[in-house]
Amino acid sequence: MKRDAVILGIESSCDETAAAVLRADGTILAEAVFSQQQEHAAFGGVVPEIAARAHLQYLPGLVAKVMDEAGIGYAALHAVAATAGPGLIGGLIVGSSFAKGLALARALPFLAINHLEAHALTVRLPGLLPGAPPEFPYLLLLLSGGHCQCVLVEGLGRYRRLGSTLDDAVGEAFDKAAKLLGLPWPGGPHLERLAARGNPSLVPLPRPLLGRPGCDFSFSGLKTAVARAVALGQAGPEDIAASFQAAVAAVLADRAAHALDMAPGVTALVVAGGVAANGAVRAALGSLAAARGLPMLAPPLRYCTDNAVMVAWAGLERLRHGLADPLSHNPRPRWPLTELSPLAG
Ligand code: KG4
Ligand code: ZN
Repeated sequence: MKRDAVILGIESSCDETAAAVLRADGTILAEAVFSQQQEHAAFGGVVPEIAARAHLQYLPGLVAKVMDEAGIGYAALHAVAATAGPGLIGGLIVGSSFAKGLALARALPFLAINHLEAHALTVRLPGLLPGAPPEFPYLLLLLSGGHCQCVLVEGLGRYRRLGSTLDDAVGEAFDKAAKLLGLPWPGGPHLERLAARGNPSLVPLPRPLLGRPGCDFSFSGLKTAVARAVALGQAGPEDIAASFQAAVAAVLADRAAHALDMAPGVTALVVAGGVAANGAVRAALGSLAAARGLPMLAPPLRYCTDNAVMVAWAGLERLRHGLADPLSHNPRPRWPLTELSPLAG
């Protein structure tokens, strides 16, 4: 594949409608993310039906906008990639059908991208981070509102899930704790701001699974403890927020330490997903990585959260290996990383 190959990427698996035009040398020619947060805020969470309709409403305009900004014309595209799972089925159908239509009209390869693989490969996008992209294998901690897992990234299409959450995803835990503290949705960033004014060791909160074998996570007990602390007025909201955040950071570092023990020889600890934006979480994982002599790599924030550049990049990585998907490919609301299409050859 030539370095000047250009791909269009589309993301629509949750509540971000996004499109990006990416060149194989890593140059982002254009990108746009439309966050539907406002459409869902009144309901305190993502409403699947509203999300699907919003994707349908915004995606065509967004694609036209990025193609216009990229200034290359549809004839210059080499492929079209879209998230085809896991995620909310309505949005997945909108995004992948749009991509298939374009691929059919232009006789281009279509790539059905696994959203988790896109998060996993983002750090390999040339020029995204200072220094050379990490070599395989590396450990990925995916910390978002919908996903919470430790994944050993052994190579393109080769992933081993070492552990995942038994109940809530970590971002969901942040959002629920924030709601209990009376903060708006999505609460993670609000909770972090409130925590900055609080004392992280004032409220004794549980640290679920800390020290236990393996690297699974659990957050529901912590959420219940926050509810109790709030109800009993054990401390001010800022102290509860700070104590919650400290408990989460400690648990994540402990689970990541176990994951590193399970995966000797990794080249880096990679963190992605919205919760990677959290300063306390980054600090805890950063010290763990430093203690193990590993770099901790986190994509810049806008590429930690859902975006289409990561989908386009995953598409290019697959295209380079001769992979593409038939237009008959069906999006999958559930699509574990261990069930990806095998590599050619
Ligand atoms: O990756 P993401 O944008 O979307 C998916 O869930 O796929 O992650 C959003 C999640 C939300 O739960 C949000 O509250 C959380 O990431 N989040 C944070 C912070 N920024 C976003 N949690 C804690 N601290 C933050 N600064
Ligand atoms: Zn995501």
